Amino acid sequence: MDELKLNIDKSLLPKHVAVIMDGNGRWAKSKGMPRVFGHKNGVNAVREICEAAAEIGIEHLTLYAFSTENWNRPAMEVNALMSLLVETIKAEVKTLNDNNIKLNTIGDISHLPEKSKNALEKAINDTSNNTRMILHLALNYSARWEITQATKTIAEKVKNNILQPEDITQEVFASHLNTHNIPDPELLIRTSGEYRISNYLLWQIAYAELYFTPVFWPDFRKANLYEALIDFQGRERRFGKISEQVTPANT
Ligand code: IPE
Ligand code: IPE
Ligand code: MG
Repeated sequence: MDELKLNIDKSLLPKHVAVIMDGNGRWAKSKGMPRVFGHKNGVNAVREICEAAAEIGIEHLTLYAFSTENWNRPAMEVNALMSLLVETIKAEVKTLNDNNIKLNTIGDISHLPEKSKNALEKAINDTSNNTRMILHLALNYSARWEITQATKTIAEKVKNNILQPEDITQEVFASHLNTHNIPDPELLIRTSGEYRISNYLLWQIAYAELYFTPVFWPDFRKANLYEALIDFQGRERRFGKISEQVTPANT
């Protein structure tokens, strides 16, 4: 594992890594256990990946923890996830502080249960002075919701003459998203062998490198993150240009 870590070029790290933590249910099922057992074990992976990301020098880590579509799961699972969120947030504040990680959320927090909201507010407050990395938890999040919200806010501003239609640039639009002030993710990781985006950060991942791994989230460890980072560093990011323009040595 240390050897993997040594292969990472610290000067070419993505500033922002986004993760779709997937496969908790299938991980549990493969062990003959209920799905909730998978979610509980997924917390260990969250702790480890937060620590690894902060240690190596990632500035922003965004984890998809609960989508707006996840409300459609059986009530028992939704309730278990909400309880787990409260327990985990309360228990992990110390780890976040030990690792100098600040907590933030994206998504519609206002519709979470009162207990979850309170625990989150307290944890955000208790970690607000930390500076090494920001952990953004996507909770009750979906990209289409976020984009619709931004559009509504912009439309209100236009209606009230605060903003003119010709002033709506990409930057202005982005500044109305939940992720304003956060650089776009350069690397998006999805675990569990699913090849889809599931309504995650649709605007922000326009030019992200996508990395898919069959590993179920509860098994995802530091070494898996290092592998993803090494893979990322081997990619040629052309942004519409041709190879010779971005890597002159190829001419
Ligand atoms: C990801 O694991 C966690 C959440 C969506 C909350 P899943 O619960 O989606 O696990 P699978 O995909 O059914 O295996
Ligand atoms: C995406 O995973 C949401 C989170 C990881 C929180 P899902 O498991 O809900 O996605 P789908 O339904 O398989 O696309
Ligand atoms: Mg899933």
